[in-house]
Amino acid sequence: MKGVVLAGGTGSRLFPLTKITNKHLLPIYDRPMIYYPIQTLVDAGIQDIMIVTGGRNSGDFLRLLVNGKQFGLKHINYTYQEGEGGIADALALAEHFADGHKICVVLGDNIIERNIWEAAERFRKQPRGAHILLKEVQDAERFGVAEVTGGRITGIEEKPIRPKSNYAVTGIYMYDASVFDKIKTLVPSKRGELEITDVNNAYIREGTMAFSFLEGWWTDAGTFESLLRAANLVAQSRTREGIPAGAIGSAVEGVAQI
Ligand code: G1P
Repeated sequence: MKGVVLAGGTGSRLFPLTKITNKHLLPIYDRPMIYYPIQTLVDAGIQDIMIVTGGRNSGDFLRLLVNGKQFGLKHINYTYQEGEGGIADALALAEHFADGHKICVVLGDNIIERNIWEAAERFRKQPRGAHILLKEVQDAERFGVAEVTGGRITGIEEKPIRPKSNYAVTGIYMYDASVFDKIKTLVPSKRGELEITDVNNAYIREGTMAFSFLEGWWTDAGTFESLLRAANLVAQSRTREGIPAGAIGSAVEGVAQI
């Protein structure tokens, strides 16, 4: 399975923090935001990774990540999203890279405490379709929300005013190669974007959508509140594990002696 990190968008909800840089380059405690979704993929045993960026600061990703040595990677692939077409539009750019393989897609602002190893293993064995990760939350109206009946997801609503459950759809999605044909059938939503929720609903209609619940904490980081929350959650986890700030990053990037 290959991995895709979606790190485009204007980050308008974080303006002026995003006036001169990309949201995914902002700090979450002691690391740039993009480090976390890359680590999520690496921890799931995925070595072949593409970053989809966009905007005026895309070159900074290359300078920051280079070829991914700090994650134990030999190489990172990059591609560029023109305009503001939404998450599914950004994912469409990974078709050539995916080359018929299954993919695990992580939104660049999604940060998790643990890992998705088990879900990835289950999906590797799944003959076809998709697998998404859900998390029970108190503010479901901020997310895609899954309706679960009889152990199956029967539908997903994007940011509903009255959510039908507390099950948020996290920004971690596993798809077979048919995802690219599904994206080609989408029409833009009211906010003018190709929605990942419409892709997921296509799999649900087809009867090939599997899911599991994410263990440990999960947060996005696309608003001021969630950006702060993400930093605090990471800091608390590090304290619990006894890892000092900067320890991981400086060891692998070789700046400890400077
Ligand atoms: C996106 C998706 C939404 C998902 C969320 C997870 O929302 O559209 O379904 O629950 O990511 O972070 P957005 O990035 O617009 O907040």
